[in-house]
Amino acid sequence: MKTPKIKIVPSLLSANQEKLQEEINEIEDYSDLLQLDVMDNVFVPNVTPQAELLKKFNTKVPIDIHLMVKEPSNEYIKTFIDANTKLKINNITVHYEACSNLAKTLEFIRKNNIIPAVAINPKTPLDKIKNVLDKVGMVVIMTVEPGFSGQKFIESCMGKIKELRRLKPSLDIQVDGGINDKTAPVAVKAGANVLVLSSFIFKSEDKVKAIKKILDSIK
Ligand code: DX5
Repeated sequence: MKTPKIKIVPSLLSANQEKLQEEINEIEDYSDLLQLDVMDNVFVPNVTPQAELLKKFNTKVPIDIHLMVKEPSNEYIKTFIDANTKLKINNITVHYEACSNLAKTLEFIRKNNIIPAVAINPKTPLDKIKNVLDKVGMVVIMTVEPGFSGQKFIESCMGKIKELRRLKPSLDIQVDGGINDKTAPVAVKAGANVLVLSSFIFKSEDKVKAIKKILDSIK
């Protein structure tokens, strides 16, 4: 079975927050999803705006919400779902390490007609999420410790991607952290098809050229 199509997902974490709409306008035609990284300064040592950020911009590109948040309650998740009726939320990703009842949280997301996704940190074995693989539309294999953009790609995570692709030939497998024109081909070769990119795009002079460089690197 063919691996699902490659998806380019710029993460807004390292976009210029003062010129967010301008930067989104520049890249949206070359983006399959736009990722909103949400951090609570508990699960990760960093904090970001929460659901209110969804009111700060508009785009036709569906949104990938990545919750790096300890024990995201249904009420908390709902603040994103209800934040901005204009934007389309594609998926909400929660961390295995942050949810004491992961299956229940994923089910709540699904019941709200949003694709549930689960992320695992570099040190978390794939075995930990095998019991929820049938409850998600995407798995996120973190290739950095979550919390900041601009970190170095952890290549040892590729074994998890290879095993997951073997188990789930048609599942969306996202890699998140340290993706550039050198590491993207490594991740795609291992079986990833959804590429999150933050600093590689937003720290580039020409953001569209940076995305095209990624696409060329994985041809
Ligand atoms: C890290 C975030 C990543 C990050 C990726 O905690 O989850 O999405 O923004 O940034 P780069 O692509 O710069 O590694």
